[in-house]
Amino acid sequence: MSYKLNTTDDYHIHTLNSLGWELTVVNALYPENSPCRRALLHNAPFGAQLFHFLEDKIPLARLKTVLEVGGGLGYLMKDFLNLNPNLQATLLDISPLLLQKQRETLTGYPVNYQEMDFLKMPVTDLRAFDLVILNENLGDFPTLFFQQNQAEQNDPDTIRSLSRVADYMKAYDLQFTPAENINIGALEVMEKICGAAIPYIYLSEHSCETSYSDPTFPHRNFTAAGNPEKISLQGHDEFTIKFSHLEKIARACRYKIFRGQYIDILPIALNDKVRAALRSATPLSDEQEILQQFIYDLHKYEYLVLINNSRKKG
Ligand SMILES: C[S@@+](CC[C@H](N)C(=O)[O-])C[C@H]1O[C@@H](n2cnc3c(N)ncnc32)[C@H](O)[C@@H]1O
Repeated sequence: MSYKLNTTDDYHIHTLNSLGWELTVVNALYPENSPCRRALLHNAPFGAQLFHFLEDKIPLARLKTVLEVGGGLGYLMKDFLNLNPNLQATLLDISPLLLQKQRETLTGYPVNYQEMDFLKMPVTDLRAFDLVILNENLGDFPTLFFQQNQAEQNDPDTIRSLSRVADYMKAYDLQFTPAENINIGALEVMEKICGAAIPYIYLSEHSCETSYSDPTFPHRNFTAAGNPEKISLQGHDEFTIKFSHLEKIARACRYKIFRGQYIDILPIALNDKVRAALRSATPLSDEQEILQQFIYDLHKYEYLVLINNSRKKG
């Protein structure tokens, strides 16, 4: 059997020249006239809706320091700082271009910026934060991609990663089916943030374990893949995330866990436009196509909110 280590760091450092190719949910909800906003109960950008969703689990008004990893265009943090101007925010990103975009979005806000691969951030620096946010980026971290019909000729990085997988299986009782793709980078991120005993953690990403089943809208139903799926994007590939494995690491580190789909954070308004888009087998207009993709994402994305009772601050 053969695996190939899929990475995106080179793309993010050297090639990425726009986030336009990847319409994240945060970016889709940013414009006030976004058709996606009209599909929701609350007409507000993502960061504001997330802030209010988290408020009853995390004492956001009393937190002092927040680290956002991979903040894209900076929109989520802008909402957080508008809702709690006392937060000391640090934005860490591997992409020099996106850090520049974050600076532009957050001009006038007192924010620290760090250009770095999060996997290389020292744990001692990480411990300074009350809250760590990773929104829609775990799929960018390295993944071991199973190669069907390939002779076993793994390169040194892949061999090192496979040996780490064996460590994780043992330490956290993780199990993998023989041909499964492995979110090795996401596992490493989890071990790092949970191991640092960060009091509060929020993360989200496309999941390979969600499904949607509603007999009213049979064309929109989908089943859980179970195996991290490859998503081919401009200049790089990402993978969906096996959240049950992340959950096991968090549990082993004694975190209290809230897990769910984006629809919990962004409740849908089942108005006529939304119903028509959900019913239609193929989109009848550009707006329907946008709504179908958006509502699929609301079911496909999962989040974890993790609370560490041993070092709780605020
Ligand atoms: C798909 S974008 C998501 C952006 C934003 N969080 C959002 O939801 O719109 C992925 C982000 O993660 C960053 N990123 C990817 N790999 C990273 C790494 N190893 N370390 C730090 N940031 C990384 C990218 O540069 C980008 O800002």
